[in-house]
Amino acid sequence: MSGAVRRTGLVTGAGSGIGRAAALEFARGGAAVAVLDLDADAAAETAGLIGKSGGEALAVTVDIADEQSVKAAIGRTVEVYGGLDFAVNNAGMASHDRQLDELTLAEFDRVLGVNLSGTFLCLKHELPLLDGGGAIVNVASNGGLYAIPRAPAYVAAKHGVVGLTKVAAVDYAPRGIRVNAVCPGPTDTPAFDRIAAGTDLIARQEAITPLGRMARPEEAAAAVVWLCSEAAACVTGIALSVDGGRRA
Ligand SMILES: NC(=O)c1ccc[n+]([C@@H]2O[C@H](COP(=O)([O-])OP(=O)(O)OC[C@H]3O[C@@H](n4cnc5c(N)ncnc54)[C@H](O)[C@@H]3O)[C@@H](O)[C@H]2O)c1
Repeated sequence: MSGAVRRTGLVTGAGSGIGRAAALEFARGGAAVAVLDLDADAAAETAGLIGKSGGEALAVTVDIADEQSVKAAIGRTVEVYGGLDFAVNNAGMASHDRQLDELTLAEFDRVLGVNLSGTFLCLKHELPLLDGGGAIVNVASNGGLYAIPRAPAYVAAKHGVVGLTKVAAVDYAPRGIRVNAVCPGPTDTPAFDRIAAGTDLIARQEAITPLGRMARPEEAAAAVVWLCSEAAACVTGIALSVDGGRRA
């Protein structure tokens, strides 16, 4: 069986980090990729990188926490590319600096609104567009599988993303659509740099990771692209850790 990536898809949060690495890797495999991001300049930069290397990309601005924005961005993708073979719901925000009683409800709702409701909205508007053989990957986190200290809203949201992934996998399997999650451990991206700034967090993470280092965004992206490929045709409903052995 071929490991080829399917033809046309979208990646949310593709202006940076894991999403950008995934968009570049899909394009290298010959896919046309819609690069969705809240940050229009970042999306344009990723699309430009793909274009420069001979690939096909479309930059689209989206706020995944806003249903009208999600509908419009996915609509624009389908208008330009004529359909959707894969979707990667990767956009998310960190919230790793407070214990539960220190969070306001508004802060909790904001983190859930982007990381969980945002993923729900993307799934809701992507699933009807996919045909048999279509694939979706939600980028959750190892925080979707176990606790991260001082990250209650983030961990609640990412556990929810893993739950949504499993239910969608079961409900849409009869239509031949696969839905999986990738759960990165600490990964060297701008988001992690912001969390670690001024601390010894990176050294501490490396010390408790069996492989002794953080992941590179390209390593999480490789798992995303594989799950969207025909090589993973019998894989659905899993939460795949890319974490240097932390989950073990
Ligand atoms: N880096 C890590 O260590 C790590 C670990 C586990 C999980 N993750 C998850 O991986 C995903 C990507 O993280 P990253 O580290 O590459 O982050 P990043 O900050 O480098 O990139 C995230 C991108 O998402 C975009 N974005 C944020 N909110 C958005 C919104 N409302 N609508 C649309 N786009 C939005 C940002 O503009 C940014 O370009 C996230 O879901 C994150 O929770 C990251």
